[in-house]
Amino acid sequence: MALPKINPLQTTAWKELAIHFESTKEHHLVDYFREEDNRAENMHIEWRNFYLDYSKNRISEKTRKLLLRLADEVKLKEAIKAQFSGEAINETEKRAVSHTELRNFDKMKPEVSEALRKMEHFSEKVISGEWKGYTGKRIKSIVNIGIGGSDLGPDMVCEALRYYRNELDLHFISNVEGDHVRETLKQIDPETTLFIIVSKSFTTQETLTNAQTVRKWFLENAEEKDVPKHFVAVSTNLQAVASFGIARDNIFPMWDWVGGRFSLWSAVGLSICCAVGYRNFRQLLKGAEAMDNHFRHASFEANIPIMLALISVWYNNFFKCESEAIVPYSQYLQKLVPYLQQAIMESNGKSTDRNGNEVHCQTGTIVWGSTGTNAQHAFFQLLHQGTKLVPVDFICFKESLYGDTGHQQKLIANCLAQSEALMEGTHGANTENQFKVFKGNRPSNTLLIERLTPETLGSLIAMYEHKLFVQGVIWNIFSYDQWGVELGKKLAKGILDTLSGEKKESIQNTSTKKLIEKVSQ
Ligand code: F6P
Repeated sequence: MALPKINPLQTTAWKELAIHFESTKEHHLVDYFREEDNRAENMHIEWRNFYLDYSKNRISEKTRKLLLRLADEVKLKEAIKAQFSGEAINETEKRAVSHTELRNFDKMKPEVSEALRKMEHFSEKVISGEWKGYTGKRIKSIVNIGIGGSDLGPDMVCEALRYYRNELDLHFISNVEGDHVRETLKQIDPETTLFIIVSKSFTTQETLTNAQTVRKWFLENAEEKDVPKHFVAVSTNLQAVASFGIARDNIFPMWDWVGGRFSLWSAVGLSICCAVGYRNFRQLLKGAEAMDNHFRHASFEANIPIMLALISVWYNNFFKCESEAIVPYSQYLQKLVPYLQQAIMESNGKSTDRNGNEVHCQTGTIVWGSTGTNAQHAFFQLLHQGTKLVPVDFICFKESLYGDTGHQQKLIANCLAQSEALMEGTHGANTENQFKVFKGNRPSNTLLIERLTPETLGSLIAMYEHKLFVQGVIWNIFSYDQWGVELGKKLAKGILDTLSGEKKESIQNTSTKKLIEKVSQ
C-alpha cells in the first residue's frame, strides 16, 4: 500500500479554493464573527481534555468545506491507512514509517514490548539506586549524548515533565563543540554519572566525537572494565556500538521503521524514562496512542490534527504566509518549538513531489516561537503591527501544576487577550494616532488543555506529528526522508580533511578556500 500521488494543484478543490480566496481574502475576522452568532460553537473540536478553538481563523463555512474536499481529493483517508499499514511509505529510503507502533498498546509488536520491559527494569534500577557506579555509589546524573531526533525529543520532554521528575540530574550533549562538552563535564562526577549514547545510525559525527571525548574523560579516573557501569547505548547499529566498547546487555534497540525525529517513544526516550519513571513514560505513550486513535477514526471535520493541517495549508498556499508561530503559555514547554522545528521542517522542507517532479506550490511551513507571556515582550509587536501575516497556535493549560490560581489566571488572561487583540485590532475604534492602529484580522488557533501531564503531552506531540503528515500528503511530498541534510555532511568531511592536514581536498570555491586559509593561519 503506497501513498497516493496526487498533484494538489490539479484537484477541483484547490482550483475552487483559489477562486474562493480571491473573493474572501480581505474579509475581516470581526465580520466573520458578526455574521455568525454561533461561530465559536461551530468552529471548535473537543476531544478528551483538549479544546481546540479554530474560530479565529480567516475561514468561512465554505472554506472549511473546500478544504475538507481537498483532503478527500488527495485521498487522505487512503494515505492514513497506508501510514498505519506498516508498508514502506518512505519510498526514497524504502522504509516503513511505524513510530505509532511504539505506542500501540492494543496490539504491541513483541520486540517493542520487550524493549519497554528492558527500559522499565533499567530505569527502576537507576532510580532506586540499585545500579551502582564503579566506586559503588548510586547514579546521580544522566547525560544523553545524541543529536537531532536523538536529542531534541528527550530533551524537550524531560523539560516539559520537570514537575514529574525525580532527583536525577539530566544533561544533554548534542553539538560537536568541545566547549559544549566541557561545560557539561564540569558539572558531573564520573563516579555517579551514566552516559546514554543515542544514535540510530551510530555513524553521526557529532555523537561519535562527543562519545569518544566523554569516554576518554571517564577513563582519566576509571578503568576500561568500569565502562559497562557507566555507558549504555540506543541504536540499530549493534556492530558499531560493540566496537565502541559497549556491552551487549547495555544496548537498547532502535528500528529501521522509526524515523529519528519520531523516535522519542522508543528507547531513544530512555533518559525520559529514567527522569520521570516508567509509569509516567508509559502515560506519555498512552496519550500519543489516544491521539493516534483520534486521528485514525474521527471524521475529518472533528479531527484535530487534520483541521489544523488544512487551516495551515490555507495560509501557506493561498495567503502565502511565510511562517507560523507556536506559542505555548507554559514555561515547561520552552523546548517544544525547537523540537517541532526538526519534526516539521525536516519532514516537509521538500521540493520534489512523490512522482519525482518539481513541486509547484509552497511546501514546508517555517515554524518558530517561544513561550508566552515572555514572547509578548519580545516578538509580538511584529505579530500585531508588522507587515507579515503570521498565524499563531496558542497552547494553554487550564490548571497549573502547583495550583497557584492567581498566576494561572493571569497567564490565561494574557493568552486569550493576545488572540483577541490579533483578531480584532482596533477595528472600528476611532484611533486618530496612526501609530496606535492595529488592523487586526490576524488569525490564530487556541488549544486549551486541562493540565500538563505525561498523557496530555503525549497527545500534544502526536497531534503535531499527524498534522505534519497530513500536510505532506496534501503537498504530495515524502515527509519521512531527509536527503537535504546529506550534502553538508559530505562537504564537511572534505573540509575537515583539509583543515586537519590529513588530505588535501580540492576545494574550488574561492570563498570557502579563503575562509579555510583564514582559519589555518
Ligand atoms: O542529520 C539529520 C539526522 O539524520 C536526523 O534525522 C537524525 O535525527 C539525526 O541526524 C541523528 O541521527 P542518528 O540518530 O543516526 O545519530
